[in-house]
Amino acid sequence: MSGIYIHIPFCKQACHYCDFHFSTSLKKKEELIGALILEIELRKKEFENITVETIYFGGGTPSLLSAKELKQIIDAVYKNYKVSNNPEITLEANPDDLIQANEKGALRAPETSGDRQSNSVFKSYKAIGINRLSIGIQSFFEKDLKLMNRAHNANEAKACLEAATKYFDNISVDLIYGIPGTSTKEWEENIAIALGFGVNHISSYALTVEPKTALAAFIAKGIIDAVDDDLAEQQFHILIDTLVAHNFVHYELSNFGKEGYFSRNNSAYWQGKPYIGIGPSAHSFDGKQRGWNVRNNSKYIKAIETNELPLEIEKLTKTDQYNEYVMTGLRTVWGVSIEKVRTEFGATFENYILEHSQKYIKEQLLYIEDGTLLVTKKGKFLSDGIASDLFKINIA
Ligand SMILES: C[S@@+](CC[C@H](N)C(=O)[O-])C[C@H]1O[C@@H](n2cnc3c(N)ncnc32)[C@H](O)[C@@H]1O
Ligand code: SF4
Repeated sequence: MSGIYIHIPFCKQACHYCDFHFSTSLKKKEELIGALILEIELRKKEFENITVETIYFGGGTPSLLSAKELKQIIDAVYKNYKVSNNPEITLEANPDDLIQANEKGALRAPETSGDRQSNSVFKSYKAIGINRLSIGIQSFFEKDLKLMNRAHNANEAKACLEAATKYFDNISVDLIYGIPGTSTKEWEENIAIALGFGVNHISSYALTVEPKTALAAFIAKGIIDAVDDDLAEQQFHILIDTLVAHNFVHYELSNFGKEGYFSRNNSAYWQGKPYIGIGPSAHSFDGKQRGWNVRNNSKYIKAIETNELPLEIEKLTKTDQYNEYVMTGLRTVWGVSIEKVRTEFGATFENYILEHSQKYIKEQLLYIEDGTLLVTKKGKFLSDGIASDLFKINIA
């Protein structure tokens, strides 16, 4: 199992909370697509004996690209790599893009006026092999969308899901909880509306106040209330209880899927499988080292055009690999296998994790079942903090 992640570094407007890499100027879009295709070609040796099972367009906003542009990139992957027969191909998409592209398509096809969707963007995306959509809804409430500076409104969020579910059954919806001013009742309504569309996957994140974002500045100036951690934790538990009651598996801290609808791309990533990240700011992993591309569109294009990879590489020590395994393991239903710790890292690491997890087992935040260390329901909201307490420190 291995994947290719492709970063599309453009957004229509900056959401107040976001510190991912993107530009709101689309001037370099064509050049950048050319560079992505070149990087795909330049890095084919890394996957010489590996079959690509998932392709993931993330962002930024991949739905700013037309089906024709995305096809050029997918074709480059097929041309340079061995791709499995049934790859998962995911597109992260924003509701306003899907709705506007869909309406344009319908207007362009008056001859099919009986079927407004007949020339739909969804059909075009499907035709080029995209079989999974991850739609950034965040909230169905106008005031939340405004506070976060999302480019879509509540009606577009609903209209988009209404149309998307006609074409795709593998749809994930992103929702954010812990937004200042969102009551528990409104949060319950957000979940209920998403479930009402019959989606099979939900990714949900606590609103994180990243330094240097507009959100951080507004909170510092008192224009927006600070995030209430207790309310966020309460909303997280509502999310878990509601989705589990609707037959979703809470398979990763922020991810819930019905059986058969877990993200294959992200599951492989959480299980430590190799992946290549294409595009500015994209990360890569080959099992032993991590790499990350330069976080700047112009520098990225310039380097790739001279056949250079703008990639910084960090070789992971045994301790780094153990720490990563503990961090991702505790976030997922697969947990941390004590046997794997022993066989891959040695008895010192095994003794270390058994000893340091005792305190959390006593507090009922962790438990061991069939030789696997897992987080209890009570420990879930704290799992990143618990994991970092079980980390070992690199000794030079
Ligand atoms: C970076 S976006 C890319 C996809 C797409 N542009 C979108 O907005 O949905 C992926 C997800 O990360 C979430 N995200 C980014 N920054 C966040 C933050 N500070 N707190 C919570 N969620 C965040 C977004 O809301 C989105 O659901
Ligand atoms: S959340 Fe998505 S749309 Fe908003 S700025 Fe970040 S990447 Fe762009």
